[in-house]
Amino acid sequence: MLSIRPFRALWIALSLSSLGDWLSILALAVLAPGLTNGGGVAKSSAVGGVFVVTLLPALLLGPIAGALADRLDRRKTMIVGDVIRGLLFVSIPLFPNLTWIYVAKFAAGIASQFWNPAAAATMPNLVPREKLERANQLSLVTTYGTAPLAAGLFSILALVGSGLSMVLPVFRHTSNVNLALYFNAASYFVSALTVYFLRQISTRRERGEISVPSTAKAIWEGWRFIRRTPAISGLVVGMLGAFSAAGVVIGLGYSYVSQTLHGGSAGWGLIFAAIFVGMALGMAFGTRLFGGLSRRRLFGVTLTAAAIPLALIGLVPNLIMVTVFVVFLGVMSGIAYPLGFTIVGLEVDDDTRGRVFAFFQSTIQVILLAVIAAVPFLSAGFTKAIASTTGSGDVKIGNIVYASAGQNVVILLAALVVAFVGISSYRRMDDREGVPLAEDLLAALRGEEPPPVPDEDDAQVAAKSHGLFIAFEGGEGTGKTTQARLVSIWLREQGYDVVATHEPGATKIGMRLRALLLDTAHAGMSPRAEVLMYAADRAEHVASVIEPALNRGAVVITDRYIDSSLAYQGEGRGLRADGIARLNRWAANGRVPDLTVLLDMPPEEGLGRRARSGDRLESEPAEFHRRVRAGFLALAKAEPSRYLVIDATRSVEEITEEIKDRVRDILPDPIPSTAEAATGAFPAITDPPLPR
Ligand code: TYD
Repeated sequence: MLSIRPFRALWIALSLSSLGDWLSILALAVLAPGLTNGGGVAKSSAVGGVFVVTLLPALLLGPIAGALADRLDRRKTMIVGDVIRGLLFVSIPLFPNLTWIYVAKFAAGIASQFWNPAAAATMPNLVPREKLERANQLSLVTTYGTAPLAAGLFSILALVGSGLSMVLPVFRHTSNVNLALYFNAASYFVSALTVYFLRQISTRRERGEISVPSTAKAIWEGWRFIRRTPAISGLVVGMLGAFSAAGVVIGLGYSYVSQTLHGGSAGWGLIFAAIFVGMALGMAFGTRLFGGLSRRRLFGVTLTAAAIPLALIGLVPNLIMVTVFVVFLGVMSGIAYPLGFTIVGLEVDDDTRGRVFAFFQSTIQVILLAVIAAVPFLSAGFTKAIASTTGSGDVKIGNIVYASAGQNVVILLAALVVAFVGISSYRRMDDREGVPLAEDLLAALRGEEPPPVPDEDDAQVAAKSHGLFIAFEGGEGTGKTTQARLVSIWLREQGYDVVATHEPGATKIGMRLRALLLDTAHAGMSPRAEVLMYAADRAEHVASVIEPALNRGAVVITDRYIDSSLAYQGEGRGLRADGIARLNRWAANGRVPDLTVLLDMPPEEGLGRRARSGDRLESEPAEFHRRVRAGFLALAKAEPSRYLVIDATRSVEEITEEIKDRVRDILPDPIPSTAEAATGAFPAITDPPLPR
């Protein structure tokens, strides 16, 4: 992985920045109590204060920062974030007082809230798709693996620091923690430099052609996007369930080990180590072992399976056995956690990815914190309830004693939640319906190809995805582009995840094909070559834009699709339509629009609307365009249920209304009436059709 240079650079930045984060927590937790004059309570609340200001930014700012990070230049965000954090930590030894520590740590936390989603969202742009999984694992390892490293480093720096303070007077006044803080600042500065030289990080694309939503709206849309996208909402349900279970384990861990298992601190250390060992094993071998299994299925399966060791932990109060179960629990989380990140990385657009990551990161922290805080009370409550009915908080079954059995009840409840959540997220995310899970698992374990999804014919491909596919077709100057744009805006306004695209030329390869196709210098191109190039553009378009979007449940609106080939190359050029249709069915992997909106008008009128000189196809004689029009109309007539034919000579507003009426009928969810009212209030976009 690290041989990919841009990834290596990002990984170094991430490691340094995580090391800095951990080091700062350690250093400030030591520094803060030293700066109070009060007694033990004041000192421990000073340490508590450090943890509060560490977590607070995530709670306050998580989702907002993510949405903002999506709109900012990622590279600049990361550099500025690092420099700010560096400066803040340099300032702490210079102004050593408690208030400033809190302010600085809080401000640094805010900067991290921008830095982290920017880094996470950048990853998929730096590594090839097939390596994204490894990349995510590696960066998670660094994020958490730097913690013990920071602890070791901290002890060394503290020693060196106190040695120096004896020799050099500069170091005398502030405590021996200073060196750690300077080192910490330096790690941020180096990280900033690393990112500075990392040119591959995308600067945000300037899009701006469609209305740019406000930040508040972006958050709202991020949330709606998650809700409306079954795969991602399955993931959220799963992640949240998993982290509430993790909260239970962390929150109850120490008291369970000491009271029920009689393990003491040594036992606690053992359990603590076991979870990390398990996670490491899961990350290292899990995806390798089950590499053949669909990622989404694997996520649901590991989550559900995690309920088993969790339940056993609650049922078998024996330290050694619990240690073994904890290793298994660790393995499951070691598989599921990076998988979740990979799924987001692969299935969420570049535009919204930062928001989704931020949503995850902030909700995960909130859940963890809330569960950790609530769980001791909850288990105490259960123990009390048990005591009030049976006379003792301890429960004896056979010769097993469950001391303070409320803890066991909570652990079993957590196992139940995990099982439930695992199954529900598996159902939502399943991308291989029809194949029994056992067959898939066996094939994966044997290292064989996964069994094919049965009868994957054209109709089923379309039926399988949850999205909605709408094509706009028509001759030159009929206003397709304008209408496609207006309908996209309208749908976005209602919170649909809309992907507006066009043919030819919506992909990188497509753009080059488009240039070849439309260049007037290529007049006289062989008609078959023309068909193949449009089909090649379409194949790339379907595979890399349309299918991923439909699979995650988006509404895809394309300006031109297969019918253009049938009309222009078929009728216009006089090639046989059935050959073109067959070729295109293959190229487009059988994707057929749910609705095709055909904008129809006499070609003379459409061509007359064009302000600029025509491209290769527009320059064809009028007779050609008349044939094209007839071709489109014939297609619509053959399959009226899938077409909406519109008289495009009418006003833009009238046409949009007619299209909306039809689209409303086929939208996946009924539109709430409130949304309808809001849309009515939305000022109609009156700018003239954009020339393309
Ligand atoms: P474009 O600039 O997208 O035109 P418009 O605004 O009219 O959509 O150019 C696309 C041209 O390519 C257009 O003249 C139609 C032609 N075309 C085909 O001939 N076959 C096809 O399959 C497609 C998609 C487009």
